[in-house]
Amino acid sequence: METKIIPIEEGNINKAALKEAGKIIKNGGLVAFPTETVYGLGGNALDEAASGKIYRAKGRPSDNPLIVHICRMEDLYPIVREAPEEAMKLAEAFWPGPLTMILWKSDKIPYTTTGGLNTVAIRMPRHKTALAFIEEAGGYVAAPSANISGKPSPTLAKYVIEDMDGRIDMILDGGGIEIGLESTIIDLTEEVPMILRPGYITKEMLEKVIGHVETDEDVLKHGTGQAPKAPGMKYKHYAPKGELTIINGSRGRVIEEINKRSREMREKGEKTGIIGTEDTIAFYEGDVIKSAGKREEEATIARALYRILREFDDEGVSVIYSESFEGTAGIGQAIMNRLLKAAGYHIETV
Ligand code: TXA
Ligand code: MG
Repeated sequence: METKIIPIEEGNINKAALKEAGKIIKNGGLVAFPTETVYGLGGNALDEAASGKIYRAKGRPSDNPLIVHICRMEDLYPIVREAPEEAMKLAEAFWPGPLTMILWKSDKIPYTTTGGLNTVAIRMPRHKTALAFIEEAGGYVAAPSANISGKPSPTLAKYVIEDMDGRIDMILDGGGIEIGLESTIIDLTEEVPMILRPGYITKEMLEKVIGHVETDEDVLKHGTGQAPKAPGMKYKHYAPKGELTIINGSRGRVIEEINKRSREMREKGEKTGIIGTEDTIAFYEGDVIKSAGKREEEATIARALYRILREFDDEGVSVIYSESFEGTAGIGQAIMNRLLKAAGYHIETV
């Protein structure tokens, strides 16, 4: 299949291109598009065959449900069994934006889209290209992140092209992504609202709107023994090819320890990669040293993380050490959640 690649600016939307993209979706095809979190791989959420194509293009197991993206509040009601008060309040506060809500689904949403579940994940993104595209596509776009299953979510169009060229009909190239980590997912079908995946919208922000919220234990720990609530969390995720270890501790000790390990590994013939920050990278010794951004501006780290993991793969790094980003405020928890997954939960304190 030939994949059309069309550059499209958020501030200057190319209507003709979006019309064409919308038509592809209405005809059962697939289009990758930018959102404020990561690139999505879209298909018609109401069309079983289209959802099937999404799973195949990604190489994703079909029991791992897709998020349904909408562009207007009134489009929510036909796809849910009920719209609880909490959902209304959260939509009012955070939509359009990087929040996904899990609600009971109506018959309008096929089981292929929800991986066989009776619930459906729904998000209204705020990226202008995404909103206009969803509207052209008929209002309901099922979209996982636009990466091959098991790779980091794409935050640049070049990674979408790398993974999806030849597998889908069109890629809307919207340049770099603003947030860089996937949306926060909150499950509203249980008694207490539960965060299944942390993101830019934090627990504190959610609690200000709907009161007490819990966080699924799997978010920062591994192997609680229970079946994960978001099926996607049971699969190995975001793993770079190199063996990644997170080193936690005081700044000086971390630098010393990472350098010592990097030296030992290089002597054994390994190619080492190191993830530091702007104020530490000058002190490291390794083959490939990368700054994730500024420690006091966590948003810079969130935006860079997935790109860096992909770059290490491209550069053939076999062993990676990363500083820890234990931030608890803001997007820090989401950064740590993704980094821990990438490291297979391998973290050591020195
Ligand atoms: O920011 C995002 O959310 C991006 C952009 C494209 O919107 N999308 C995204 O989709 O990250 P994906 O498919 O890569 O991740 C969706 C996660 C998976 O872990 C999946 O298991 C979970 O959401 N999920 C989807 N529907 C669910 C449901 N009904 N119940 C529980 N978890 C669900
Ligand atoms: Mg994904």
